[in-house]
Amino acid sequence: MALLKSNKVISSLGNISPALGLLSTRYSSWWAGVQMGPPDPILGVTEAFKRDTNPKKMNLGVGAYRDDQGKPFVLSCVRKAEALIASKQMDKEYLPIGGLAEFSKSCAQLALGADNEVLKSGRSITVQTISGTGSLRVGANFLARFHQGPHDVYLPKPSWGNHTPIFRDAGMQLKAYRYYDPSTCGFDFKGALEDISNIPEKSVILLHACAHNPTGVDPRPEQWKEIADIVKKRNLLVFFDMAYQGFASGDIDRDAWAVRHFIEKGSNIVLSQSFAKNMGLYGERVGGFTVVCGDAEEAKRVESQLKILIRPMYSNPPMNGARIAATILNTPDLRSLWLEEVHGMANRIIKMREQLVAGLQKHGSSHNWQHVIDQIGMFCFTGLKPEQVERLTKEFSIYMTKDGRISMAGVSSGNVGYLAEAIHAVTK
Ligand code: LMR
Repeated sequence: MALLKSNKVISSLGNISPALGLLSTRYSSWWAGVQMGPPDPILGVTEAFKRDTNPKKMNLGVGAYRDDQGKPFVLSCVRKAEALIASKQMDKEYLPIGGLAEFSKSCAQLALGADNEVLKSGRSITVQTISGTGSLRVGANFLARFHQGPHDVYLPKPSWGNHTPIFRDAGMQLKAYRYYDPSTCGFDFKGALEDISNIPEKSVILLHACAHNPTGVDPRPEQWKEIADIVKKRNLLVFFDMAYQGFASGDIDRDAWAVRHFIEKGSNIVLSQSFAKNMGLYGERVGGFTVVCGDAEEAKRVESQLKILIRPMYSNPPMNGARIAATILNTPDLRSLWLEEVHGMANRIIKMREQLVAGLQKHGSSHNWQHVIDQIGMFCFTGLKPEQVERLTKEFSIYMTKDGRISMAGVSSGNVGYLAEAIHAVTK
């Protein structure tokens, strides 16, 4: 509005041409030097998908669960919890800076196990965060301010695309360790061990607790044990990102095994949790950030600093999703319904993996697609090359990230055949 006005004034002076008026308007803008940025590598895929008019289009970009009809899925336990909350006619006052206490408590119990010594002795602090991303960012900022060791964060190669900007924007430096072996589409155990044993002491290592994103490749328990030993020996600060608890195996305790093992072996980890996937609370933005401390007194000090960090960022988190999650976790009937539903979601994905491979074989694909079945969780790292991904999008309206990751959660009985046909067409 202000710009339009100033343009009108300049043009109306008569002796200045309108073009010059426009020019000075443009040069007078505060943001003339702002460059056009690229779309987000994951969320940008959804924007492109929405513009496509092909009725057969598939969005396998963002990791968001769909039911077998391809529709966004709201869990019944969530609907029931919402009804219960609505019936209580609760107020909408601000939450404390660290969020809803009953949520934070249940969130930590879910990850660590209710009878974990860390929780019993009170030597940890959990704050409610704005889903997993917010949790990682609070954690990254906390490390940038207080971590006494090198400010280098070692990410698995590859890692979730948003990890790098989260830590970088918080002022940490990014490094990497080998993780994925393209020749087997599996875990590069030897490479990972070698790299981790060379990480300078007291650095930060980020580990995906389960259902590694983007590869769907997780270490086996005996491999986790060796990693935990090396990490302890190198005295590394472990940052666990657990965005998919329950989604890997369908069993929340099994998926939290690595986190609990590292703690048992004496690592005072930090942990990010998200309830986006396992409760389908994507847009509610529910998560938690936990710091395991030396003792309860240290935990109190850490808590005070987390509050100081959060207050100028967003003051305090939103309440609705945290109420839903806490209600589910603390109401026995809803909790068992939730566990069944998580199991159901994980199983549907496993079934789609099998059907995709069967479809590829039916079309006569001569490639070995075993990794599609072996990988776990929401994603499959297909091994498709960027040019093949491009063809899938251009010729078949199948959208995915450029690295060849597909969100198996977007595959259904109705479109798995089309996907198999399309992948075969670009890989034969
Ligand atoms: C994904 O990797 O697709 C999800 O974690 C969603 C996101 O925010 O990137």
